[in-house]
Amino acid sequence: MENKKRIKLGLIGLGTVGSGVYKTLKDNPSVEIIKIAVKNINKPRNIDGLDTSLLTDNPYDVVNSDADIVVELIGGIEPAFDLIKTAIANGKHIVTANKELLAKCGEELFNFAEAHNKVVLYEAAVAGGIPIIMPIKTILAGNRINHIEAILNGTTNYILTKMDADGASYEDVLKEAQELGYAETNPTGDVEGFDAAYKITTLSTLAFRKRIKIDKVYREGITKVRAEDMQIANELGYKIKLIALAQLDDNGKADVRVHPMLVSKESTLSHIDYVKNAVSLKGHPVGHITLSGPGAGEFPTASSVVGDILAIVTEWGTTDYLLPMMRCTHSETAEVIDILDTENKYYLSINATNKMGVIGIIGKVCEENNISVACILQRGLKDNNTADITVITEVCRERDIRNAIEKFNNSECINKVNSVIRVQND
Ligand code: HSE
Repeated sequence: MENKKRIKLGLIGLGTVGSGVYKTLKDNPSVEIIKIAVKNINKPRNIDGLDTSLLTDNPYDVVNSDADIVVELIGGIEPAFDLIKTAIANGKHIVTANKELLAKCGEELFNFAEAHNKVVLYEAAVAGGIPIIMPIKTILAGNRINHIEAILNGTTNYILTKMDADGASYEDVLKEAQELGYAETNPTGDVEGFDAAYKITTLSTLAFRKRIKIDKVYREGITKVRAEDMQIANELGYKIKLIALAQLDDNGKADVRVHPMLVSKESTLSHIDYVKNAVSLKGHPVGHITLSGPGAGEFPTASSVVGDILAIVTEWGTTDYLLPMMRCTHSETAEVIDILDTENKYYLSINATNKMGVIGIIGKVCEENNISVACILQRGLKDNNTADITVITEVCRERDIRNAIEKFNNSECINKVNSVIRVQND
């Protein structure tokens, strides 16, 4: 067998994921880590055998080094984008876990890499340790994938699972999750759905073979989900999850969004609890498959980063043009349906005055807005002589449900529509 050269790696970032990558690769005979950029060289690090002479606090030392592959693990747009472009221009392949950069600047990045005959691999940027990018590029390549439902954010899945298990409020669980280190001090990126939106943008672009623009992706976080919603959903046979959804219709239009959703207790996704992630996709000819596992964490995410590195290492020297399936260029941009034109079932929780005819008014408003009611439920009265009425609709248009909600909120006997949550289609 040919005696292959040891591939030189430069790491940018030695945080949680970077440490996992270092520990996993430090004794690997086919790679040699030659430089590592960190924010603070003097910070104590719990990494056995770390060669501190490799550390630099200037990430340009990495992209200008003689590394063959640069691994970017700092996240965010700048300086990551400039570092990656500089590395590519300097002849390096890239492995990154940077979901925000891929979602916002993927097109420019992949085209730049293509022009320089380099690849950008990003398995870790979508679902942490779950292999989904490389499987879509390789063993699922013969499929037309037209539907993805996924849980892509561990923080929000942890919070929703805990709210469900303990009957606790969003605020209380968030506080506890922050104390335990499961949620960031500033949780906005996770709880408002940005992180999941970045990930589904990148995933659906690959799966649909059309570029999805992040600004067309509808996003709604979990901050308005109430303990009461969790309880009623449970009684009606559902769990509430933050779902990243991407579907492609027969005319090639895409529907890509992130929002809380009532998912049937019979669905696989309803059983994905705490920090776990899952991707459930439908394709032809494969059918319906679900992959689940750890969506974050030191070693699970390192597993994906290292897998990408070794995919390049394995190809090294066999050709001067790495496997085309490793590339990610798309000439077509998808038309993405506006959320107002999407069709969904809805769960509504309406607080109304205890007055005769309220249920009739709710029914009438629904009828006037082309909404068919699948289920309506009221259990007695509250102390303030109001009632919480739960409605589950059949499939209807978002535009119609929004009109109906406006009517409800302006109706004399209805105090407030407290919750509106989309319900998983069968
Ligand atoms: N913050 C993400 C999560 C992990 O909670 O799943 C990194 O994308």
